[in-house]
Amino acid sequence: MKYTNVIFDLDGTLTDSAPGILAGIRYAHEKMNWPLPDDATQRLFLGPPLMVSFTRFSGMTTKEAAKAQDYYREFYNSTGSMNNSVYPGIRQLLVALKKQGVSLGVATHKPLATSIQILKAFDLYRFFDAVAGPEPGEDPSKGELIQRAMKKNAKTVMIGDRATDVIGAQEAGVDGIAALYGYGSRAEFEEVETRFYANRVQDLYELLDVKPIKNRGIFLSFEGNDGTGKSTQAKLLAERLRQNGHDVLLTREPGGTQIGEKIRELLLDFKNLEMDKVTEALLFAAARAQHVKQVILPALQEGKLVISDRFVDSSIAYQGAGRGIGIDQVRAINAPAVAGCMPDVTIFLSLNPDEGIKRLVQTREADRLEIAGDDFHQSVADAFKDMIQREERFLPIDASGSIDEVAARVYEQAQTRLMEKQLI
Ligand code: TYD
Repeated sequence: MKYTNVIFDLDGTLTDSAPGILAGIRYAHEKMNWPLPDDATQRLFLGPPLMVSFTRFSGMTTKEAAKAQDYYREFYNSTGSMNNSVYPGIRQLLVALKKQGVSLGVATHKPLATSIQILKAFDLYRFFDAVAGPEPGEDPSKGELIQRAMKKNAKTVMIGDRATDVIGAQEAGVDGIAALYGYGSRAEFEEVETRFYANRVQDLYELLDVKPIKNRGIFLSFEGNDGTGKSTQAKLLAERLRQNGHDVLLTREPGGTQIGEKIRELLLDFKNLEMDKVTEALLFAAARAQHVKQVILPALQEGKLVISDRFVDSSIAYQGAGRGIGIDQVRAINAPAVAGCMPDVTIFLSLNPDEGIKRLVQTREADRLEIAGDDFHQSVADAFKDMIQREERFLPIDASGSIDEVAARVYEQAQTRLMEKQLI
């Protein structure tokens, strides 16, 4: 291993805040009724202080720029920061570095408290042994910050996306690597005689002489009675984990493949009232077999985090209990379809079934299964309750409240469970 201590700049190196910043800049221009500069000019806003950018690139006076900056902050504080994300590949790199005993640091010009907040929001904080950023009222150089983040008696390297990061590295007497996937340009790095360049995150493996780690895939499923907001929550969790830098695949049952989607149409079409319950169970299992073999297993083998909106537990509850085929029978039908590929964690959104159906009626037309009657839905709910009690894999989560409230609950509890199981 070439280095025993790797220090990263934050914005533009670990995290990409460009989409949020650009959206804020567009918002500020709109509010000011000011012509929006072209795309290339907008990108120049990434880096210098905002006041400088509004005056230099948009031609505002200092007073106008201050007003634009207020609008920008108003936007950024409400929604802009949600557009940020960890660069793809960074999380996997940090895992590999940690596993190979490298100590990690952050040296950033963002205020220290904000930086820690950002690292925590993206679930990156726990990877770092030291974080250095300006404390209130001080204005340290990048070299000074790198020194604060450095581990003693280690072979250190600094990775950053702007020339100031390499200048800081030189000041601190350590190697510097240019992260060209961030906001800086090659020209600014050449000007300061940078020796090492990473065009992509993947290039860092070779530059740091660290081996990529093949991570094991993670399989999450969502279950719940009809109308619990499961599909919305599965999507929101997928987005949040993607922002954190996980390689996420979101899929659903019945469906998830071309063949599966055709079977789904047959199953949910409320005109197919004559469908026998065994036919129904076999069709769900058939769609699942295709889904597991064509989508889920290959993604897990690539190390992805797979989220499936419903999986085999739905068949056990709906066909086994709801339709009364029997749980053992449904398990047997599904054994070759599932082929041993079971979720690591099953998030169960729990809501009183009556309330669930009420929510559904308010939002859209019901499908063939949803009109099956109260007894049916009660048996489904009971079957799920039973599974939750028996199987450790289940993570029941209260689905009452607003979409955002439930999403926050789902994220927190899923993270905790995945960490307990040492899957992330
Ligand atoms: P869907 O539109 O996905 O409903 P929801 O948003 O509630 O998940 O339709 C899936 C329906 O199919 C739902 O009523 C549950 C049912 N179902 C089964 O009966 N067995 C199964 O194995 C699966 C996957 C779903």
